[in-house]
Amino acid sequence: MADSKIIKSKYFFEEDFTEELAEVSANKYADWNKKELKVVGKPVSRVDGYDKVSGSAVFTFDVILPNMAHAKTLRCPHPHAKIKRINTKKAEKIPGVLGILTYENAPKISWYGKSFLFDPHLRYEGDEVAFVAAENERIAEQALKLIEVDYEILPFVTDAAEAMKKDAPKLYDDGNIRGGKPSVYERGDIDKGFEEASAVAEQTYKTQVEIHNPTEPHCSVVNWDGDYLTIWDSTQGVFSVRDRVADVLKLPASRVRVIKKYMGGAFGAKLEAGKYTVMAALLARKIGRPVRIALDRREMNLSVGNRPDSVQKLKGGATKDGRLTALYQYSYGAAGAHPAGAGCSWALRTMYLCPNVKTEEYTVYINAGRARPFRAPGHVQGFFALEALIDELAEKIGMDPLEFRIKNHTDRDQVFDAPYTSKLLLDAYRVAAEAIGWKNRPQPAGSDAGPLKRGIGMSSQIWWGGGGPPAYATLKLNRDGSVRIIAGSQDIGTGTYTILAQVASEVLEIPMEKVEVLLGDTAVAPYCGSSGGSTTAPSVSPAVRDAAEQMKAKLLSGAAAHLNVSESQLVYRNGVIHTKGKNKKSMTIREIARKMGERVLVTTGKREANPDGYAINSFGVQFAEVEVDTETGKVSVKKIVAAYDIGRVLNPKTLENQIHGGIIQGLGFALFEERIIDRNTGKVLTTNLHDYKLPTVKDTPQIDIRIVSKGDSKISNTGVKGVGEPAMIPTPAAIGNAVYNAIGKRIKSLPITPDKVLTALQS
Ligand code: MOS
Repeated sequence: MADSKIIKSKYFFEEDFTEELAEVSANKYADWNKKELKVVGKPVSRVDGYDKVSGSAVFTFDVILPNMAHAKTLRCPHPHAKIKRINTKKAEKIPGVLGILTYENAPKISWYGKSFLFDPHLRYEGDEVAFVAAENERIAEQALKLIEVDYEILPFVTDAAEAMKKDAPKLYDDGNIRGGKPSVYERGDIDKGFEEASAVAEQTYKTQVEIHNPTEPHCSVVNWDGDYLTIWDSTQGVFSVRDRVADVLKLPASRVRVIKKYMGGAFGAKLEAGKYTVMAALLARKIGRPVRIALDRREMNLSVGNRPDSVQKLKGGATKDGRLTALYQYSYGAAGAHPAGAGCSWALRTMYLCPNVKTEEYTVYINAGRARPFRAPGHVQGFFALEALIDELAEKIGMDPLEFRIKNHTDRDQVFDAPYTSKLLLDAYRVAAEAIGWKNRPQPAGSDAGPLKRGIGMSSQIWWGGGGPPAYATLKLNRDGSVRIIAGSQDIGTGTYTILAQVASEVLEIPMEKVEVLLGDTAVAPYCGSSGGSTTAPSVSPAVRDAAEQMKAKLLSGAAAHLNVSESQLVYRNGVIHTKGKNKKSMTIREIARKMGERVLVTTGKREANPDGYAINSFGVQFAEVEVDTETGKVSVKKIVAAYDIGRVLNPKTLENQIHGGIIQGLGFALFEERIIDRNTGKVLTTNLHDYKLPTVKDTPQIDIRIVSKGDSKISNTGVKGVGEPAMIPTPAAIGNAVYNAIGKRIKSLPITPDKVLTALQS
């Protein structure tokens, strides 16, 4: 029953392959597509719902330890400067100040050739200058004001196009282009592809910098117990934080414990250990007290990540009958002041059947906060441009944009030349087009009478999110007949606690209340990957099923021993094991557990290997209906229809939450959100939630969700593909295309603000 082996596991996490050795399950279980499921796939309410709504849930932000000190960070006020002199004497003298860390007294920690903690060469407004621990935050803030710093102010550059010029101020000695050259992808023959085209569209699209701004700010509480460091962290990856902190502090990983119970959002900004966590650990050791550091909203907007901007020059060619012959992309994006990815070419490479493709992308350093992964990195930007170009090409050849997309559908991944495990995009197109009333959209574009002009637009979507091993889950039988799942994954707000409990409840046929879930603790849980890349449910749910099926087998074996019958004479039903036929003898799980005393049963489930030779992707489409006020330029999104192939839905309620969240975040990116830097001073103007506009409930459209898939049995025993990122990918593109359909003018840069709409209308 408990078969396993060790393999080289390779799967997509965010935009890249991960490859590592993993122990995988070799157990085969009944196909859930052929069974009537009772708990999985049902709209079960969140198991942590009461804790959340009653305010009793303890987020990292709420963690309070006895004798805890509070930290604050002094950040550089200039976009580019060098520290000539720093003097902390006055600050140290304030009663209640416990310790100050600067580049002069902090250990020199190098990370990939760059300074990990402090660097006297400050490259953006918000770069770390000093870190203070005090009795409370107010005293720490006072101390920051008394730290004297002489800055040598340097020329700065805050725009990627400017930064690419030869005479631009340099952030690093080897120049502002990361790696010194573009990253290039090519297949087929791009020139030949354009020769074959009977219509060519060429256009430049731009997207802005978006800030994650999760509800819960980045925060950590750290505590030393001798040489043993415990970190409560608001993180997407407890193991990744453990390993990074252990590495930079030169501690064995076994001496670092990272705990995260509840989290108020992350969206990719919390995938790696923060500098503030390491600084807090250093000061905590020095002062002999626990230290708490929580960033404020200004710091969140300056220094813990963003979606990089993009300028995308696209060119596409198609034949008269609607076959794509060539797609070309030249793009650049700003990584900010530290290494980060700013590419956005995967949309073009993978979405449609096209033999000749070339992309050239530049990642550029500028004097601003560093980019980080943000919900479908690259794809949200890439799809906005690609899907606009596809619509323009369709118009040029006089074809319905939906029909054009269907013509260029592919059943094979063209980058790796492999078939998909499943792809139901054509079903998604059909269902969603009907739900939005695609046939009744204004034709030609802009023909609605106005002054409120209605329009409908669409965008396809592809993402990875198949997940894979390693992912493990331990299942313990408690003496009272309940079970506990222990897994090193984390619930970042998406409902992981709930879906994992559902899987165990389904297999063991016991009520949800009898399943406890413990996540996010590196000291007690077996390894799971970070909660990112839309991989959590696809990676972890099969491990839980494996653990629960093994538990079921053990329970049968226990009952057989106690009842003096062979296992083949036993039936497992609703958490009770009984003999077949008349004169039934039976045992409940609780009775077996009690018979075993404290020697309760434990199983460890493992995610099975992904199938060889396949590409695993999720697919979907969104149609947006908008209303554009041609007098004020305001765009209102009325309705979004979202149809997806994401394998099995474990829980339609949490699925709906994820899709709603993705659509609202995509709507914010399409219409409002933008980090704005004053080009004269290099300072960020949007550092709070008044100036940085997030969508609110008033902006929320009607949302209609259609799932066209069942479990993908080729992937895993639960057949789940991820949905967290796919939910957002097509929204801005669909809204952009809908605005074009409404007014007959294309807004080629996001966000689509009233001024841009009015300017376009007057052109
Ligand atoms: Mo990643 S951007 O956290 O899914």
